[in-house]
Amino acid sequence: MLVDQRQAYDRMRETCPVAHSEFMGWSLFRHGDIVRVLEDPATYSSASRHPAIPSGIDPPAHAGFRTALAPHFTEAVMAALEPRSRRIAVELMEPILRDGGAEMMEAFATPFTLRTLCASLGWREEQWECLGGWTHGNQQAAFSRDPAAGRALAKLLSEHVKANLDEHRSSPSDDVTCALLATSVDGALLDDDQIVSVLRNWVAGEGTVAGGISLLVLYLAQHAELQKALRDDPSLIPAAVEEILRVDDPLVANRRTTTREVEIGGRTIPAGASLSLMWIAANRDPRAFESADEVHLDRGTDDGLVWGRGIHLCLGAPMARLEMRIALEELLSRTTTFSVGGEVRRSVYPSDGLAAFRLSVEPSRMTAT
Ligand code: HEM
Repeated sequence: MLVDQRQAYDRMRETCPVAHSEFMGWSLFRHGDIVRVLEDPATYSSASRHPAIPSGIDPPAHAGFRTALAPHFTEAVMAALEPRSRRIAVELMEPILRDGGAEMMEAFATPFTLRTLCASLGWREEQWECLGGWTHGNQQAAFSRDPAAGRALAKLLSEHVKANLDEHRSSPSDDVTCALLATSVDGALLDDDQIVSVLRNWVAGEGTVAGGISLLVLYLAQHAELQKALRDDPSLIPAAVEEILRVDDPLVANRRTTTREVEIGGRTIPAGASLSLMWIAANRDPRAFESADEVHLDRGTDDGLVWGRGIHLCLGAPMARLEMRIALEELLSRTTTFSVGGEVRRSVYPSDGLAAFRLSVEPSRMTAT
């Protein structure tokens, strides 16, 4: 499992599709079992111990938060963000092209995604390093089950976000932080702690985008024909993003808690039990997808669970898609080819995507001159 969790969870899906472990609670691996959970939020609660808006909120309160936050991810907001995000991508890519390659997580995926988030929030871009440190520390704390470290990190992030909120209150501008300060749910403005909780979700989401970018680039580095097809026709990139992430999903799992005793896959699970929805295995379930581990750009996304389904469907998907499209467009257009240039190490839950990935690139002549 520690070497390649994707293969390990494929095996679990086929041999033990409803499994129990101390770390993950009850893990569900099959597409059909997970869809049934997603369609029944009354039986499978998302309520979390720590405040998480809106991911850890159940109906009926969830709808109000969701409606209030949706305007921060509209097409118009994404269109305004695109040039700034592209500038960041180009800036980070220059040294990679010059040096003929780089460690992609460190040199590109992590700084690109977090700097884009800072740009959209109207924060100084260098603050990405603090957010990156928080994400990494948080994943380590969850992996090693260290609640004290988790609490210390939560406090740090909270102080960081609140300092930015104070700055934006004293000099209002046209950015997402000011929009969040003006966001109200059922007539009441979000308070600072609620905004911290919203942004914790977004920062974590950017970690998943970084993992997604690393997996997309790895797949294309290993599949030269598809790489060439996307370089020749960039309009195929959005479909490739959806389909490659279905086959190699950066987000391993999300949690639910049973509100009553249930039976899943012939097993009786008590009320109050913690469930892990293993997206990474469900998206590769041959019961839902023909030739499930193959990438077919014409497959369509209706059955895919990369973004979840139902009331908690990923709110940040437009931003994630924008960043992944920009990353691929810029890398493909500035190279004639790229390939795996060294170590590839997969992350282990709760981290996303790849822990290390060295890419080797051939810059296109236009870029090189
Ligand atoms: C490739 C990147 C991403 C993937 C694969 C992804 C996937 C998901 C999935 C599967 C869920 C459903 C969770 C559940 O049902 O428990 C979800 C929810 C959510 N995601 Fe993402 N996500 C990504 C990036 C982002 C980003 C960048 C943001 C914000 C900037 C974001 C914000 C959210 C929020 C707020 C929710 C909760 C929605 C709700 O509860 O109504 N995600 N995401």
